[in-house]
Amino acid sequence: MTVSHTRVRKAVFPVAGLGTRFLPATKASPKEMLPIVDKPLIQYAVEEAVEAGVEVLVFITSRTKRSISDHFDRAYELETELELRGKKSELAMVQDIVPAHVSCVYIRQAEARGLGHAVLCAEPVVGNEPFYVILADDLIDGTGRSSLLQMQDVYERHGGSVIGVERVAPEETSRYGIITPTEISQRLYQVRHIVEKPRPADAPSTLGVVGRYLLAPRIFEVLKNTGKGAGGEIQLTDAIQDLLNQEQVYACEFEGVRYDCGSKFGYLKATVEYGLKHTELGNAFRDYLQQVGADLQKGRR
Ligand code: UTP
Repeated sequence: MTVSHTRVRKAVFPVAGLGTRFLPATKASPKEMLPIVDKPLIQYAVEEAVEAGVEVLVFITSRTKRSISDHFDRAYELETELELRGKKSELAMVQDIVPAHVSCVYIRQAEARGLGHAVLCAEPVVGNEPFYVILADDLIDGTGRSSLLQMQDVYERHGGSVIGVERVAPEETSRYGIITPTEISQRLYQVRHIVEKPRPADAPSTLGVVGRYLLAPRIFEVLKNTGKGAGGEIQLTDAIQDLLNQEQVYACEFEGVRYDCGSKFGYLKATVEYGLKHTELGNAFRDYLQQVGADLQKGRR
């Protein structure tokens, strides 16, 4: 069954967090600008949104995040210099970061009061439309189809709100929002309940929420009445719990691999995997890793 629905045209990128797990790198620059091989995390996230049909990118920023707006702005000096030197492909690379039909809006979150509060800051721009929330530090390599497009498929069939989930290790539930699911079909669930960072003994399942959401605009009304939750922050998870008492919320267990690039280990794994897939560097990097592996086996490192 397909239900009538409003097309999702806007995506919110909350990038105002402190990034404490990646200090000291994130002391003065945003974790979303950390590169995986040659592109910053935020650019991967923006490309995923644009591919899904998004036309308005809403960044929720803070004081130390100016490099993000610079990255998506024109760079006249650099462009002139590249043109003078005849570096055509590099010029195209810096000019095509955001397609012409896509606009960027920046909203300051004055204080890091939590992800829920960051999302609420987007209300004046998003208005009464469904929208995506994308956490750029969750880099997702969707096998063939991006996680956002997989969630869009669910939305087009069922409407409501859709959150991206994956199976997490039972001992790691206290790092995620965890859902109580009712299975609808393979990898698709109705969310009955959601709880932020439960201890393993209290977790209702091992389906953990990752950084992709397609939310109905009603979430804004809910967020206005959401108090502080886990960690003393206004949690998006708590607002989704209230939302699902009013309307349907689905969970899409997308196909693909997620890298938690907000953690140092996840970031290293993503760098290796994306390095291996890189069109220019992949082969040389594979040879290098094989050499490292051989050295490690012989105890040379
Ligand atoms: P995290 O829980 O990853 O927090 O936030 P963080 O501060 O970025 O990183 P750590 O845990 O201290 O290392 C989830 C997302 O919500 C955004 C963050 O930028 C991140 O994308 N966020 C969080 C905000 O925009 N504002 C906030 O007040 C809190």
